[in-house]
Amino acid sequence: MNVLALLRDRFAPALTSLGVDAVEIPNLLGMLLPSQDAKFGDYQANFAMSLGKKLGKPPREIAQQLVAAVDLTDLCNAPEVAGPGFINLRLKDGWIVEQLAAALGDEARIGVAPAAQPRTIIVDYSSPNVAKPMHVGHIRSTVIGDALHRILKFLGHNTISDNHLGDWGTQFGMIIYGYKHFLDAAALQAKPVDELSRLYRLVHSLVEYYETKHEKIPSLKVKIAEAEQRVARLDAQAAPTDPKELKKAAKQLEQAKQSLAELLTERTGLETKLEATEADPKLGPLLAPHATIARDVLLETAALHGGDPINVELWRKILPYGMAEIEVIYQRLGITFDHTLGESFYQDRLRGVVKSLVDKGLARESEGAICVFLAGQPAPMIVQKKDGAFLYATTDLATIQYRMSEWKPDAILYVVDHRQSLHFDQLFAVAKLWGCAGVEFQHIAFGTVLGDDGKPFKTRSGTNVGLASLLDEAVERAFKIVSENDDARPAPLLSAADRQTVAERIGIGAIKYADLAHNRTSDYVFSYDKMLAMTGNTAAYMQYSYARVKSIFEKAGVSRSSIINQQSSILLGSPHERALALALLQFSEALDRVVADYRPNHLTSYLFELASRYSEFFENCPVIKAETDALRTSRLALCDLTARTLHRGLQLLGIETVERM
Ligand code: ARG
Repeated sequence: MNVLALLRDRFAPALTSLGVDAVEIPNLLGMLLPSQDAKFGDYQANFAMSLGKKLGKPPREIAQQLVAAVDLTDLCNAPEVAGPGFINLRLKDGWIVEQLAAALGDEARIGVAPAAQPRTIIVDYSSPNVAKPMHVGHIRSTVIGDALHRILKFLGHNTISDNHLGDWGTQFGMIIYGYKHFLDAAALQAKPVDELSRLYRLVHSLVEYYETKHEKIPSLKVKIAEAEQRVARLDAQAAPTDPKELKKAAKQLEQAKQSLAELLTERTGLETKLEATEADPKLGPLLAPHATIARDVLLETAALHGGDPINVELWRKILPYGMAEIEVIYQRLGITFDHTLGESFYQDRLRGVVKSLVDKGLARESEGAICVFLAGQPAPMIVQKKDGAFLYATTDLATIQYRMSEWKPDAILYVVDHRQSLHFDQLFAVAKLWGCAGVEFQHIAFGTVLGDDGKPFKTRSGTNVGLASLLDEAVERAFKIVSENDDARPAPLLSAADRQTVAERIGIGAIKYADLAHNRTSDYVFSYDKMLAMTGNTAAYMQYSYARVKSIFEKAGVSRSSIINQQSSILLGSPHERALALALLQFSEALDRVVADYRPNHLTSYLFELASRYSEFFENCPVIKAETDALRTSRLALCDLTARTLHRGLQLLGIETVERM
């Protein structure tokens, strides 16, 4: 039951009866919302204010007319018109009780109705690049995508998850080059994943050395020369007589010197890096013999893409190791996909994609490359390079073509870093022209995970934080917390094995929840202390709330099923009971909000709110020691609904609960 949707449905004909234009109604209905403060009722509508001008009447009068026209007798007490024209709505207790009774008996859905119009929705998420180390940035796509997938599915949509793995990129050229030149066969035999990642890092370092030397430093030198000229020019200028101008000139000079200094520091940094590589006992001796490595690696990738049998064979050999490593992380995170169709899957379709674009007059040659020019876009989208190579965008178009023919989606969601937004803008524009005009394409962008210093989260050594060690640390810290709590009990409840299981769920849950609780488009600071806190909007607090509710049944010596089968109804005598009941009824609204803008943080906020309402209820309304049997049963029913809603909510976020912690 979505109360908000129901109320809006009831108000729509009332608005029409006042002569409001049909096209404006959906917008206006958006002004009917849950009240921020219980003293204004449970829901509040303020459309009368914005209708005043249009209908040429005082808003209060409009509000009164709406109240007279709307039919809410079964669900609400008589609506109140307040202040300049707010309409305050308070649900009837009897109606709330009826809805809760239905939810209580609805084991699978707790009263959340499935979508009236189910859609076919593809969620493209996680999609790491195989054989490159997976890092903290990948967690966002994985966790957000998984939550959206679960929620959409729960709401009855035909949801398809597809992991668009990067399994065809230049990292394979690097590993193949490494394999051909630097392989330690015994190490490969003993620890293949370690040896392959050593090869990747080795080749990557050598390529980086030459890129720094031949590209980055020379282009920096050009910038330095320009900056020096600017400083010299400003320095040579005659000092202005006007004091204001003088100050301005001095400031300009200072800024020019400052940016020159920054460029010089950058150059020193790069040069130091070059020297360190030269002095490195492992890397240094390899530099001269591999002076053309940057180009050769590209040639290895090109040979792979061109079907060279040796490189294809090596790719086949390397790929499963990279996949296995990723799979370990997915297992730990509890992530599965309906499909894992990586970039390589689409390779033999790319030529056809380019041909189709050209045939339809969408793409044409420009400076040797095949490009799609889009109105209003600064640069064209290149689909085939001068040397014949296809691009990331070409593969994405082939992927759309495949998905359309295979699954006929109504929507495709791409959960990918915000830095790829230009790519997706272009991709969607081309896809629409190419024949997918009716499809909803969404780039579900997200911000960066930051360290304490406000810069992208890195380890002290400056490398990206590996995902496995990140999870390990969260679980270790959770283990400590769980053990300390348990040891503080008069008689500890958890065995060592229990503590480990609980720690795994709390640690992993903490990481996921912290990610989901932030508005996805913002950056956020990664903090183990914050995410593992037992109070506040954290997974641990939610898991604790759940365990606490569940423990009541044990203490009361009552089974859940006996509560559900009771005929007696829920009593809402106390404002705390009523507030909890209302919060329970609003689960469905929270899920709809998530889907409206694809932001899982609406669900975390809701769960936090629910847990807070429960806490107030629990402090003020004795459950086991309730004055009467009927009241006890009623309160146990509220506990049961709370536990199930918390459990389901966390499950939809991909977070596991524990019965004890
Ligand atoms: N592999 C890409 C990366 O790590 C992300 C792919 C996202 N999905 C897509 N269909 N382009 O940057």
